[in-house]
Amino acid sequence: MSRSLLLCAAALITALPALAAPLDDEPIQPIPVSRVSDPGMVELGKKLFFDPRLSRSGLLSCNSCHNLAAGGSDNLTSSIGHRWQKGPINAPTVLNSSLHLAQFWDGRAPDLKTQAGGPIANPAEMASSHAQVVTVLSSIPAYVTEFKTVFGTDAIEIEQVTRSIAAFEETLVTPDSRFDRWLKGDAKALTETERAGYQLFKDSGCVACHNGPAVGGNSFQKMGVVEPYSTRNPSVGRMAVTGDPDDRMVFKVPSLRNVELTAPYFHDGAAATLTQAVETMGRVQLGLTFTPEEKARIVAFLKTLTGRPLALRLPALPPSSDTTPRPRPFEE
Ligand code: HEC
Ligand code: HEC
Repeated sequence: MSRSLLLCAAALITALPALAAPLDDEPIQPIPVSRVSDPGMVELGKKLFFDPRLSRSGLLSCNSCHNLAAGGSDNLTSSIGHRWQKGPINAPTVLNSSLHLAQFWDGRAPDLKTQAGGPIANPAEMASSHAQVVTVLSSIPAYVTEFKTVFGTDAIEIEQVTRSIAAFEETLVTPDSRFDRWLKGDAKALTETERAGYQLFKDSGCVACHNGPAVGGNSFQKMGVVEPYSTRNPSVGRMAVTGDPDDRMVFKVPSLRNVELTAPYFHDGAAATLTQAVETMGRVQLGLTFTPEEKARIVAFLKTLTGRPLALRLPALPPSSDTTPRPRPFEE
């Protein structure tokens, strides 16, 4: 290399902003960028996620309760399903749910594909059935063609529906939050208050349960470790899956990614604000009473966990045909 080229390279290096080394030994890691292995399947899954024809009423889609323009949840204490039925539990966000060890508050679905079959057939949610969904989709010529392109088969199967939706959901990750940029060495990505909030989050013991890339989602823990949590919500948590009385009030630790977008909080939706959620967590999980300043600091940190908004193009849903079953919005 010539001397002038070398000088040039040296000048370039000094011109780059000073990036510290990535912080490798933190209990939270940056969210990995999702890799799309089958773009056709993801595109199909996206259509199905937004398609209200998967519900009996023709009104509810996955997006009704997991609004992707609003953090992937419905911001309600409990969801509203078919014929305005009140759901039993708060809807978690679908953002980053592929990073969880299992799906649902009690972890009863092992993965996204199994999960997706649930709401379609749940009479209190989309109130359709797997057979009916296959009938509806098979009556829509553009869907038949698209399923054939993606799966190479002539007949649509429910398994292909849930697999496509899961493939789409796997792309719903939100990397590049300010906190992740800080983890990767950009010292200026966080303010002093936010860094102090993170330090307090670690020192108080929150990281014992909220850790890893999703800042949660990787273990089941009791709600009310130090002080019993009082709620009117009848959910027993993980005990419904294991039958073990020790699992009463044990829930999947929620991810705290994008948590500023997903109020209200907890399985019963009882905490209306992040400040309230932090206060309750300190008290019932750790036996701590935070001062207002401490709560504000932790909340400031939590808000740095909001990732890059999804760059999502709305899908164009294919038109129904003359044989497509009509919506039945007012039927039981
Ligand atoms: C009527 C509202 C409603 C509709 C419609 C709905 N969901 Fe949900 N979803 C919920 C609620 C409530 C939960 C939590 C249930 C539980 O944990 O017992 C949930 C849980 C989930 C979870 C688990 C997230 C986690 O962190 O555990 C995923 C993933 C999900 N839904 C995806 C979907 C998909 C895909 C569809 C469409 C096929 C859909 N949902 C339709 C309300 C809804
Ligand atoms: C022993 C494990 C554990 C510890 C320690 C812990 N959490 Fe949690 N956290 C959970 C569980 C479990 C839930 C869900 C409880 C429920 O919904 O009933 C939760 C829920 C939350 C939520 C609500 C998330 C949502 O989407 O609904 C926030 C916010 C939160 N924790 C913050 C904190 C903070 C801040 C601390 C430290 C002061 C902390 N947690 C300590 C286990 C823990």
